Amino acid sequence: SQLLVPSPAVLQQPLAVPDRLLLGPGPSNVPPRILAAGGRQLIGHLHKEMFQIMDEIKLGIQYAFQTQNPLTLAISGPGHCAMEAALLNAVEAGEVVLMGVNGMWGERATDISKRLGADVRQLVKPPGEYFALQEVEQALDQHKPSLFFITHGESSSGVLQPLDGLGELCHRYECLLLVDSVASLGGAPIFMDHQDIDILYSGSQKVLNAPPGCSPISFSERARKKIFNRKMMPPSFSLDMGWLANYWGCDDKPRAYHHTAPINGFFSLREGLAILAEQGLENSWKHHKENSVYLCEGLQQLGLQLFVKEQEARLPTITTFVLPEGYDLQEVIAFIMNKHAIEISGGLGPSAGKILRIGLMGYNSTKFNVDRVLHALKDALQHCHKNKL
Ligand code: GLV
Repeated sequence: SQLLVPSPAVLQQPLAVPDRLLLGPGPSNVPPRILAAGGRQLIGHLHKEMFQIMDEIKLGIQYAFQTQNPLTLAISGPGHCAMEAALLNAVEAGEVVLMGVNGMWGERATDISKRLGADVRQLVKPPGEYFALQEVEQALDQHKPSLFFITHGESSSGVLQPLDGLGELCHRYECLLLVDSVASLGGAPIFMDHQDIDILYSGSQKVLNAPPGCSPISFSERARKKIFNRKMMPPSFSLDMGWLANYWGCDDKPRAYHHTAPINGFFSLREGLAILAEQGLENSWKHHKENSVYLCEGLQQLGLQLFVKEQEARLPTITTFVLPEGYDLQEVIAFIMNKHAIEISGGLGPSAGKILRIGLMGYNSTKFNVDRVLHALKDALQHCHKNKL
């Protein structure tokens, strides 16, 4: 009989991928060395050489996170999967959890926790602000949660959350501290062990400059005890930390088949972590800071207003600012994309429609790129339509 669905004509054309400078909040451009690693021929996901590469990834994550936690691995999935893995392993239905919400990521963690049947409480601040220790303490005292979620690098608002003292505070209230560092890892200092963070996760597509799809995560001993003493099984097979710990050689049993890992994604992540290890964390933190300060100065010289007022609270990887009255955000974004082949981004979640965001992450964090995007913005401010109010 005849085929119901004919062969699509577009699939008989070559793959079309334009060259772009990705200065949005991620993904960032992938350097040739990482592209080459991801393009290598496959090996089996259970071959001993693959286990060796996974062990190297684990060492790279321990370095990037500054942790000695044995339960450290990469989730096969983007940052959202790591967020989900953290919550669904650490939280059981009915437990009280507290979400720090000052942008998109606290909202997402709230959504996931509700799906798990947790009793979700929120500590809310407007986007652009961060949480002070005493505000967190008050909320811990009021709600007595078993877990507190907070975002280190709020990519939707451009805020860097100070973390010192939070872990110790949470532990005084018998609460685990869960930190999202997807947008900040490698771009701003974080010390998982010294800062007493119980669960930390990140992504591959920001400062690490690998494609999205493999997400570093680590659990403290305190978190490990909680997740391995659950009453109910975690409500996901793919993200079950018992299975994943075994697959990543984090327990004392022989490694068993769990899922088929994204092998090329692991090659790329390994290479992203290798570049960070060669460069050194302190150097990486320093050059992200310098380039973001340089960008902020340039934006102010163009007469643009930075969204985060306090300099120390600005995320070095993603800078947020406000356009003068009368400009249409989407028109400016489209102009810069169409004429200059540069991606910049609008806000997200609670900051949508209010701000613009420029990401400078890893390989993309250079003075040269700052000059390029400032030039494009200046051009946009001259040429985009200004509505008469
Ligand atoms: C994604 O990470 C974003 O901030 O848009």
